[in-house]
Amino acid sequence: MILIAPSILSANFACLQEDIKKVEEAGADWLHIDVMDGHFVPNLTIGPPVVAAIKKNTRLFLDVHLMIEKPEQLIPAFADAGADLIGVHSEACTHLHRVVSMIKDYGLKAGVAINPATPVNVLENIIDEVDLLLLMSVNPGFGGQKFIPSVIPKLKTVREMINNRSSKAYLQVDGGITDETARQVAEAGCNVLVSGSYIFGASDAGLAIQSLRNAARLDHL
Ligand code: DX5
Ligand code: ZN
Repeated sequence: MILIAPSILSANFACLQEDIKKVEEAGADWLHIDVMDGHFVPNLTIGPPVVAAIKKNTRLFLDVHLMIEKPEQLIPAFADAGADLIGVHSEACTHLHRVVSMIKDYGLKAGVAINPATPVNVLENIIDEVDLLLLMSVNPGFGGQKFIPSVIPKLKTVREMINNRSSKAYLQVDGGITDETARQVAEAGCNVLVSGSYIFGASDAGLAIQSLRNAARLDHL
């Protein structure tokens, strides 16, 4: 089964509650929240108070994608704010295993993300500890970028790694997901699609979510 996680980076921040309600009613599975610090990525977005406010206004699973340096400093605040899953970048963690353990000690699901130019082998020694592996299909920092196709062979390799270990980890992709790329990534073994501009830029979010589901519907999944 494919899960659809709309990224609120492309929502209207002046009416965030309305936009979240829209995707919730449209059948979104998770809500993807992009946290940027202006250091790890060249953009700034939202912090724990906004996540806490969102938590009070939605029943959706909150998938918090930290694109920040030293994520261990803010994990307690995002846990208190109501994150259900916290994902950190391997590139931002000197002690990745310790950071993942910290997330799990808060009782949350833990994810590890890698950038387009980071090889998948960095996941080998953390895969057994995590609930989600995120392969970026754009360089993180902005919504609306073009999908980088070299993520496809990486997804296939990580899907094999997951299956070989009988891991239950989700395999997520983030960046440039449309009905066209959704099919390609689903075929490569991805089962959680993050999508921002395609969903929030559509005149009908429900139709956009449905078209992603249809595109990603594969017999073998
Ligand atoms: C990029 C973010 C993505 C972004 C995806 O740094 O991590 O979640 O919002 O946006 P689209 O779907 O527009 O590429
Ligand atoms: Zn993201």
